[in-house]
Amino acid sequence: MADQSVSQIFSAIADTAPAVRAALPGRRVEYGGENPSGESQLAADVYADSLFKDRLEQVDAVGTYFSEEEESAVAVGDGSLTVAIDPLDGSSNLKSNNALGTIVSVYDEPLPASGDSLIAAGYVLYGPITTMVVAHDGVVTESVLTDGNQEVVKDDLTLPSEPTIYGFGGRIPDWTPEFTEYAREIESEFKLRYGGSMVGDVNQVLTYGGIFSYPAVKSAPDGKLRTQFEAHPMAYIVEAAGGKSSDGTQSILDRTPTEVHERTPVHLGNDELIDRLESSL
Ligand code: AHG
Ligand code: MN
Ligand code: MN
Repeated sequence: MADQSVSQIFSAIADTAPAVRAALPGRRVEYGGENPSGESQLAADVYADSLFKDRLEQVDAVGTYFSEEEESAVAVGDGSLTVAIDPLDGSSNLKSNNALGTIVSVYDEPLPASGDSLIAAGYVLYGPITTMVVAHDGVVTESVLTDGNQEVVKDDLTLPSEPTIYGFGGRIPDWTPEFTEYAREIESEFKLRYGGSMVGDVNQVLTYGGIFSYPAVKSAPDGKLRTQFEAHPMAYIVEAAGGKSSDGTQSILDRTPTEVHERTPVHLGNDELIDRLESSL
């Protein structure tokens, strides 16, 4: 039953992604509002939110839709599941025409909820091609999405065991001395790959092996990324792919936010690199 619900939810996401992508060229402009995190919204953020909400409303298993772009939960049906969504991740990349994504979390409890309540998570990456990565029951699959068509290209995606890349967010002078020291070591061992969209950057870690961090910074001790919409789902995917997640001290999935739009430091990647990070902080 859960399997069927998860596959219906991600079919709905796959169906909607081409329309989201097609709508981007005309929506690289300010919408004129702010989201609950205090960030200015682009027309594309708001439009992608409405497309996903309208489509997920048609999935029986979904009872509640909760978006990073909206203040509160929206009741969309009688189902028991809550879908949390970052409709466009990295939307500031629209200006420079770089990678963007959509992040989707499926919880079996109302939000705020712990990462233990996730039953599936996934993302769409709008790169040169559109791909969708979904984690469920400890298995991660990757598909290529073309209009109306979903073709599985990897049915058991795992993190490469020999990591080669890293991507760290935030301004270097704003990093803590402990994180800066860790970063100096990592920089001497691996190659920098950072694009400013968590989906694009984590997808590179899943492809090449390595570590993605958006750490706690001096001006924002909780970091930038939101627990329910960005950190939990990406941690769930990386852990299902054989890697580790951390907020600096524990798995991100062990965090239960007290407020739905709450932020958390995020570190995702190969086990050994996350273990080293936790001992450095
Ligand atoms: P969003 O567009 O949903 O607000 O998310 C942007 C996030 C995330 O994708 C990325 O890792 C980070 O912000 C980039 O931040 P910087 O611009 O500070 O690098
Ligand atoms: Mn985001
Ligand atoms: Mn967003």
